[in-house]
Amino acid sequence: MAPSLILSSLFTLILSSLLSSPALAEPNATHHPRHPHRHLRSLHFSLFQHETINKTGYFIVPGVAGPGVSQTTTPFGTMFVFHDPLTTAPDRASKLVGTSEGTSITSGLDGLRSISIAKISLRLRNHTGSLSIVGGTHNVKPSNHPIVGGTGDFLFVQGYVTSSPVDLVGITVVYKLEFHIYWPPYA
Ligand SMILES: *[C@@H]1O[C@H](CO)[C@@H](O)[C@H](O)[C@H]1NC(C)=O
Ligand SMILES: *[C@@H]1O[C@H](CO)[C@@H](O)[C@H](O)[C@H]1NC(C)=O
Ligand SMILES: *[C@@H]1O[C@H](CO)[C@@H](O)[C@H](O)[C@H]1NC(C)=O
Repeated sequence: MAPSLILSSLFTLILSSLLSSPALAEPNATHHPRHPHRHLRSLHFSLFQHETINKTGYFIVPGVAGPGVSQTTTPFGTMFVFHDPLTTAPDRASKLVGTSEGTSITSGLDGLRSISIAKISLRLRNHTGSLSIVGGTHNVKPSNHPIVGGTGDFLFVQGYVTSSPVDLVGITVVYKLEFHIYWPPYA
């Protein structure tokens, strides 16, 4: 074979292998649906969290700066740990369907904001398992906490939990938790 023919067949070989490689193929439009979330399974509901100081929630590490402990503020660096009941209505005597256990560390120099981590265990009519949430919490305004995952019937879920103060007066404070849970297609 003439050297030029060897070169040209080599070139053809390389070119055809490049063209048939998946990386260079035309993207298949069916992999990019226009509305990818239309058929996601989801669940939306609200519960109420009851936190009683020195009973279901304790200050573990005192803060070091900023305002003192009040109904709405805690000093910067305060570490609080809780294990609170979750009920279906604002009334503590309403049906108990879960617990929220976690910690919050005051990270706002104004004493109003903290970083919260929680494991929320749920026993709902059709779903049992836990959700793990993490995010910033504002003491007097609603906060969105991204759901980073779950266990049991909530394995692989994503979404968010909006936490809003309902009653901050007295030794038991009440928060409303609004759950927006989405199962990815592979769950
Ligand atoms: C995309 O891929 C699917 C499944 O592999 C195939 O049936 C379809 O014909 C492809 N569409 C195009 C435009 O190549
Ligand atoms: C909670 O316990 C701490 C430490 O014993 C005490 O200083 C604080 O006053 C208690 N708070 C309430 C609201 O009972
Ligand atoms: C619970 O599951 C049953 C059977 O799968 C279904 O009929 C019912 O609508 C579900 N209830 C809720 C609140 O999702």
